Amino acid sequence: MSQDILKKQAAEAALDYVTGGIVGVGTGSTVNHFIDALAGIKGRIEGAVSSSEASTERLKSHGIPVLDLNAVGELSIYVDGADESNAQLQLIKGGGGALTREKIVAAASKIFVCIADESKLVKVLGKFPLPVEVIPMARSYVARELVQLGGTPAWREGFVTDNGNLILDVQGLAITEPAALEQKINNIAGVVTVGIFALRPADVLILGSQEGPKNLK
Ligand code: A5P
Repeated sequence: MSQDILKKQAAEAALDYVTGGIVGVGTGSTVNHFIDALAGIKGRIEGAVSSSEASTERLKSHGIPVLDLNAVGELSIYVDGADESNAQLQLIKGGGGALTREKIVAAASKIFVCIADESKLVKVLGKFPLPVEVIPMARSYVARELVQLGGTPAWREGFVTDNGNLILDVQGLAITEPAALEQKINNIAGVVTVGIFALRPADVLILGSQEGPKNLK
């Protein structure tokens, strides 16, 4: 099975966790499969809170109402993909640049179900370049601070986030203490969001595999 089929498999398995109400929806190619599957049960949910303009557009194209997070209470579930996960379900996210809204919706949700193909499970986070969203005027300053932490940041040139900010992709970090590094990078002036999701990890990881979906908790 191709990587895309494994993503679809994980995405469809996540429907088992959708019990109604308002669903938080992430961003990316795996989530696109989830949105398509969610359309099949749209009569059972009240709507969705979206983490990006791209997901909003896809949800609307299926006739799924997209609600403002400020107008709803705690979400029962958030479903999103990841660029990497360790066995503790701590993640690297932001390959698609939607990390800030993703972190907000994850924080506002009771259960975070992460969906991915099995290649995303790693022993130590950090092989995937760590995305960091920064305020434009802080780009060089934040890059110098990230070098101090042992990383090699690269500006994702030509890319602007849905919030009007920039992304630095940081290579060379072996992230052995994800929660500590998340806090440290969060504390750099000018950083909007770091793509480590360790302070609020996933609660469930559904991995698409050749043997069928595997659930890690
Ligand atoms: C979007 O900003 C990311 O956090 C995605 O969730 C992540 O990059 C996974 O993307 P794919 O599902 O396309 O692999």
